[in-house]
Amino acid sequence: MGIPVILDCDPGHDDALALLLAAGDDRLDLLGVTTVAGNQTLDKTTRNALRILALAGVTDVPVAAGCERPLVGDLEVAADIHGSTGLDGPELDVPMPPSADVHAVELMRRLVTGSPEPVTLIATGPLTNVAMLLRTHASVLPLIKRIVFMGGSTERGNTTPYGEFNIVTDPEAADIVLRSGLPITMIGLNVTHQARATPSVIAGFRDKGSRIGAICAELMTFFAGTYLRVFGFEDPPVHDPVAVAAVIDPSLVTLIPAPVVVELAGVHTRGATVVDLHGRTGLPANVDVAVGLEVAGFWRLMTSVL
Ligand code: BDR
Ligand code: CA
Repeated sequence: MGIPVILDCDPGHDDALALLLAAGDDRLDLLGVTTVAGNQTLDKTTRNALRILALAGVTDVPVAAGCERPLVGDLEVAADIHGSTGLDGPELDVPMPPSADVHAVELMRRLVTGSPEPVTLIATGPLTNVAMLLRTHASVLPLIKRIVFMGGSTERGNTTPYGEFNIVTDPEAADIVLRSGLPITMIGLNVTHQARATPSVIAGFRDKGSRIGAICAELMTFFAGTYLRVFGFEDPPVHDPVAVAAVIDPSLVTLIPAPVVVELAGVHTRGATVVDLHGRTGLPANVDVAVGLEVAGFWRLMTSVL
C-alpha cells in the first residue's frame, strides 16, 4: 500500500494534473478528493474533479464538495487564468458519477479517522476546507501525518504583488493551518515557477498516445495562452502537481525549515506569506519551505502517469 493521502483541490488546469498524478502513482494511496471554491465556484471545481477522474478511469475514489466561499470575505475566482468553466480548453465530455453525499470536511474526518496509518493532506487550492477540518475536529490532529500545500512564495506573488492566489483567496484559513502545530510543507511560487510546461513537455504529453495525455496537452496549451496574456510568460508554470510530487519523491524538492506567517492586516500585502529564511524574527520554524526543484525529474514523474 502507498502513502495514504487526501487531495483537496480547486480544478483548475494545474489541479487537474495534480489529480492525475495523485491517482496514477502507486506510491500514493489516494483515499479521497475534496473540492473547494477557488479557481472557480465550488460547483465547477467539483464537476471538474469528477470529470478528470472519470476520464482517467478512476472510479473508486470518493469526491466530496466542501466550502463554497472563504472563511472571511468574498470569493474571487481566477477566470482570467482558468476560463469560465475552470478547465477551459479541451472537450471534456464524459459520463461522470455524482459527488459523495457528504461535505468535504466530514469526508476528510471519516477518511483520516478510518485510516490505519496517519494521513497526508495535500492541498492545492485555498485552505478553507483544511482549516475547517482542523478547527471543527481537533481530535483528528494526531491522525494527520503532515500537510503539504501549494501556495505562498518566498518571493513575490501572482495575485497581488506579494500575495499568491491560494493564500490571498483565504488568508485566515492559511493562518489557521500555519499555526496548527502540524508538520507543514510549503510548495510556493518560488519553486513552482520552475515547473514550466514548455512545448517539449506538452509534446511529451501528446506522445504518450493516450486520451488523457492528449487532454493534458490541450489543457496546457490553453493555460499557456492565459499565462502569456496575463503574465507575459512564454511557458506556463504548472504549480499544483509539484506538491503531489514532493510527497511521492521527496528527493525532487529541497526543503528548509523556517518560520512562516501570513499577513492578515496589510494595506497592500494581505495574504502575503512572510518567510523568515534567515532567522531574523526569532520565531520558531513552523514550515518546511521548498526552495529547490529537480525540474527534469518532476516532468519525468508527471509524464509517467499519463
Ligand atoms: C495556484 O493558484 C491557482 O490558480 C492554481 O491552481 C494554483 O493552485 C497558483 O497560484
Ligand atoms: Ca489550485
